[in-house]
Amino acid sequence: MNNNTKKDIITLAIETSCDETAAAVLKNGRQVLSNIISSQIEIHKKFGGVVPEVASRKHIENINMIVQNALDEAGITLEDVDNIGVTYGPGLVGALLVGVSTAKALAFGKDIPLVPVNHIEGHIYANFIEYPELEPPFICLVVSGGHTHLVYMKDYGDYQLLGRTRDDAAGEAFDKIARALGLGYPGGPLIDKLAVIGNKNAVDFPRVYLEEDSYDFSFSGLKSAVLNYLNSSKQKGEEISVEDVAASFQQSVIEVLTEKAIKAAKQMNSKTIVVAGGVAANQGLRNMLIQRGEKEGLDIRFPSKVLCTDNAAMIGCSSYYNFLKGNIAGLDLNAVPNLRLEEQMAL
Ligand code: KG4
Ligand code: ZN
Repeated sequence: MNNNTKKDIITLAIETSCDETAAAVLKNGRQVLSNIISSQIEIHKKFGGVVPEVASRKHIENINMIVQNALDEAGITLEDVDNIGVTYGPGLVGALLVGVSTAKALAFGKDIPLVPVNHIEGHIYANFIEYPELEPPFICLVVSGGHTHLVYMKDYGDYQLLGRTRDDAAGEAFDKIARALGLGYPGGPLIDKLAVIGNKNAVDFPRVYLEEDSYDFSFSGLKSAVLNYLNSSKQKGEEISVEDVAASFQQSVIEVLTEKAIKAAKQMNSKTIVVAGGVAANQGLRNMLIQRGEKEGLDIRFPSKVLCTDNAAMIGCSSYYNFLKGNIAGLDLNAVPNLRLEEQMAL
């Protein structure tokens, strides 16, 4: 077959599931022509977390401009777009609806196929942008503010969920401990920075592995242990070292994430572990997984940091593969705040 005659496929992607208003343009799924992210972090910071109503309002104010910026930076117009991918879940319902409504309006107005994208799948696909040669199957550890999943990705859109958090997500635990330590929001990057200077062995916080054969996670016990440590130090009038607590807490989280991912790779005979989501930006986790991976002969992949946290380029990559499979939504597409990773296939 002569590839030169093949037409390029252009994807416009929209992401508004939480506090980033984002749009991107991709060529043939893995080549990013533009990736515009407008973060609302400064607005939510003063509340110590994302305020859903404020997030929706800000998305509405920004979305048209962000989409136009993405098209302009890519040097294209809507006439060039072959598919519009949009995150329809999981996420904050009011925030998701802004992206979904915008994508539907553009799809209807210009008669462009509308592709429904699962946000968790999007995080995984960030790795296909980072590594153009990467192909499934592999083990994927998805660790973000809302999700902690250990998944065996058999093929595009085909997932076997091995384990998930039973309570807090990994990023959520980082954010809550950061708040208890009087640091800002989001807490993950701040703890990550302090952990570099702190002593990771200063406090022996629990490593929660659950049952022997379980790939599930639980971070609420660890969170309580850290809060108890802070309270009892305060009652005894003992000074604590914020750096040491940050480093010891982080060590506890990343050890469990690393060991479970390595065990899953061995059990599933996978030579590759792919990490995704905001917590994949954590330098401690990156170092530990790479070190352990080398020892076990495993190939460890992370997206670059800008592709770890929420962005629309990853949504565009997922949109491309769903578009190729004919996974197109009608104009009755709705936001699904609790959408599960495995549900993407059912569409
Ligand atoms: O993927 P993401 O942008 O949004 C969700 O889909 O949830 O992830 C945001 C989460 C926040 O909890 C944030 O604290 C965490 O990722 N995060 C980090 C780091 N950067 C972001 N956690 C640990 N270390 C980091 N460097
Ligand atoms: Zn996310």
